[in-house]
Amino acid sequence: MPHRKKDRLSIERRAQAPEADALRLGTGWTKADLEKPWTLIECSGGDSHPCSVHLSDLARVARDGVIEAGGAPSIHYCTDMCDGIAQGTEAMSYSLASREVLAMASELHAQAGHFDGAIFISGCDKSVPAHLIAAARLRIPAIFMPGGVMQAGPSDTTLDMVGTYYSRYRRRAMTRKDYQFYRTHACPTAGTCAFLGTANTMQILSEALGMALPGSALLPAGYMLQARIARRTGNTVLKLFDKRLTAERILTQEAIENALVVLAAISGSTNALLHLPAIAHELDLEFSLETVSKINNRVPVILNVRPTGSHPASMVWAAGGVPAIMRELREYLHLDALTVTGKTVGENLAQLEKEGFFQNRPRFLENYSLGKIDIVRPVTDPLKDTGGLAVLWGNIAPDGAVMKRSAVEKEMMHFTGKARVYDNPADALEAIYEKKIRPGDALVIRYQGPRCNGMPEQYYVTEAIASDRILSRSVALITDGRFSGGSKGPCVGHVCPEAADGGPIAAIEDDDLILIDVENGRLDLVGADGEEESEAEIDRILKDRLQNLPEHRPPARTGLLALYTENCAPANLGGYMR
Ligand code: FES
Repeated sequence: MPHRKKDRLSIERRAQAPEADALRLGTGWTKADLEKPWTLIECSGGDSHPCSVHLSDLARVARDGVIEAGGAPSIHYCTDMCDGIAQGTEAMSYSLASREVLAMASELHAQAGHFDGAIFISGCDKSVPAHLIAAARLRIPAIFMPGGVMQAGPSDTTLDMVGTYYSRYRRRAMTRKDYQFYRTHACPTAGTCAFLGTANTMQILSEALGMALPGSALLPAGYMLQARIARRTGNTVLKLFDKRLTAERILTQEAIENALVVLAAISGSTNALLHLPAIAHELDLEFSLETVSKINNRVPVILNVRPTGSHPASMVWAAGGVPAIMRELREYLHLDALTVTGKTVGENLAQLEKEGFFQNRPRFLENYSLGKIDIVRPVTDPLKDTGGLAVLWGNIAPDGAVMKRSAVEKEMMHFTGKARVYDNPADALEAIYEKKIRPGDALVIRYQGPRCNGMPEQYYVTEAIASDRILSRSVALITDGRFSGGSKGPCVGHVCPEAADGGPIAAIEDDDLILIDVENGRLDLVGADGEEESEAEIDRILKDRLQNLPEHRPPARTGLLALYTENCAPANLGGYMR
């Protein structure tokens, strides 16, 4: 039976024990529990959205697992916001800041409760990275349980398709009845929206990082398999405690690189390039956009899931989930990286192979007349030859910018467009609706970075461009804000330094010429007043304009947004709070 760590039985602890123990016994613990490893179960369960609505049930099963393995569990809650509900409104400015709040709430619960180890349970965009950040920060034995995925709706409808259906309905290309039907059933179960947005990307990466049990990411929410994983997660945290296998021994440089390889191969959300550096920062690990670029230039996309591919994300687990993806990627991975099983990535894969996992799991796909190869392709016959993401640098983005290369039409991979500049997304959206944005325009939306207004996603602008057959092939979006994982089209985000920090994006004017060259990783101002200029002249123009920038006054902030915008790191470092 595992016991609490000796150094926790310190003079301090003995002094506070009479009152503190009485309080713990008041939560239902027994006297024997006081001598067992104190295990925090941090859960983002709540009625906030489908990603979190079922998680308290899983937390209770994980608690059974902790008790079974000889620990003393204590469930603490802090639910997360829904980006989908906040999208397109001022509320979206809270999204990235909410990651910090959730990480701090976890830190608070773990430290204030003197816990020896922790289980984290969450499923959505910000809660998953927040819990991984907290695990890294706390440096205690910790394990993550991904919240699982939603089933697709009728005709494989996923949430990211509802906006397109709405546009069709407005164009009278879909009946009101049909539109209403799909909207009503787009989110038919609990779990993460069934396309490869940020939430599913981060669930997959939690497993790729070694922090979640093999095969646990993207299980269908509500399947009994999830309850089994929750119970095993409860058992496993006690084993971590026994081995003193703390989060920093798992979240290593190799683990971050493994996550980047998987991110490239699944064509995951660009938001992961905010979350992985924030996790790396907690452990003083290196993270550079140069490494991201190199990995994406050599790792192919092998996951055939929406929005890059064709199938809903609810098919991934049936194809063998993250183990099937990592098995295909073996040659690119650090197979000796340690995981929460106490074994390495390579040993976990070998174990699953021995158990027949890779043969058996895809049998679920037979229900849909699909095979594993339809969802997870071999690296020798990939969906795309290079990784899903690209990093661009240039005189507009000296510290880098990112884009989802796999979601860009061929003709937009090399593009020179005329700048149309907006300082907020609502004006840009109106301009698109009023047909002021024309083929060949480069739409610039700035003052959207973390230090200006929390870095909201520009989903509705990207959706308005992507759902227009002509604009999606002829207009690019450039912003110091970010994008939803479901965004499609030629969108360059995270432009750094951001406008509010005096970055060159603040100096762009209408009719400037902007070059996007994805293959060569360039984002440059190449002309002014509609005319190309020499490099020396562009340097002079930028210098001059930056010296004479008109003052930009961000809206007055109070509370959380004031705290976040005043204290966050730039986007290329992860936007964490310093
Ligand atoms: Fe979390 Fe849709 S509610 S991804």
